[in-house]
Amino acid sequence: MENLAEAFLSLSREDISLLAAIERGMRTHEWVPTFLITKLSGLSAGKSEYRLQRLYERKLVVREAQHYLGYQINFDSYDLLALSELVRRDQVRGIGGEIGVGKESIVLLAQGDVPLAIKFHRQGRTSFRHVRRLRDHLVDKPRVPWLYAAALAARREFQVMTKLHPDVSIPRPVAISRHALVMEQVPGTLLNRMALSDPEEGLRLILHEVGRALALDIVHSDLSEFNIMIAASGPVIIDWPQAVDATHPHATDLLQRDLSNVLSFFWRKYRLEMPLEEALSIVRGAEGI
Ligand SMILES: Nc1ncnc2c1ncn2[C@@H]1O[C@H](COP(=O)(O)OP(=O)(O)OP(=O)(O)O)[C@@H](O)[C@H]1O
Ligand SMILES: [Mg+2]
Repeated sequence: MENLAEAFLSLSREDISLLAAIERGMRTHEWVPTFLITKLSGLSAGKSEYRLQRLYERKLVVREAQHYLGYQINFDSYDLLALSELVRRDQVRGIGGEIGVGKESIVLLAQGDVPLAIKFHRQGRTSFRHVRRLRDHLVDKPRVPWLYAAALAARREFQVMTKLHPDVSIPRPVAISRHALVMEQVPGTLLNRMALSDPEEGLRLILHEVGRALALDIVHSDLSEFNIMIAASGPVIIDWPQAVDATHPHATDLLQRDLSNVLSFFWRKYRLEMPLEEALSIVRGAEGI
């Protein structure tokens, strides 16, 4: 897509109604027929066909003609639907540049009451690794897997963050729409992109946060120097969609893997050595902190 902000500003209310109609139709149809889009959008047939063609030319809808002409939204229009709802609810008032583009998400700076980050999940595009485990969390189960996987991951991440905040140092979760999670912007830098003046203290603070999460029965499961930010207030742990409950059969293995990732980073970058057992005991000891 060009730029999300520009695309957003150029959408009419009718375009939003059509995209929302296709989104609804995708709960029951893989390809949503034109008559159903028209019906769900409340627009006249002529107007809806004309605007659908425009959306198609702008690559905001995908279509397939087999027995009938059917439409789908894509990730770009899904982003626009989420953004338009967040703006309508006055939770987001402006959007800025991209701060993270990964395999499984795109993160944009934004502005609301405070500086924000919006994480648009992209899970369904690449893998279904975490989907099976998380399936039960989604009430509406759309026909189209990517839509479902991305919304599911966002919902799971929001739920975990809501449980952890403020006991664990994470970005405050602010809002969610579909696959888009809005959180407070962390005024800091990723751990792998900066030099700590006191690595030993840094490592201990990180282990304490892991311990606080464990005390709330949550294991991150994707912890590494790429998911820890350092702010003036200390470490802030981000990226929670794959977190598991402490009762999960692999919770202990996942916790050990999280800690090994962090320990090996501190060894590689700072030549700081700590045995896994010691890290585990700090984490377990921190449960009560
Ligand atoms: N609340 C936030 N404040 C500031 N920056 C953030 C925030 N959340 C995420 N970021 C930035 O966006 C990047 C990606 O976020 P996150 O790790 O949650 O997504 P991801 O799905 O892991 O992406 P990737 O596939 O690149 O790992 C982070 O590395 C960080 O630079
Ligand atoms: Mg990450």
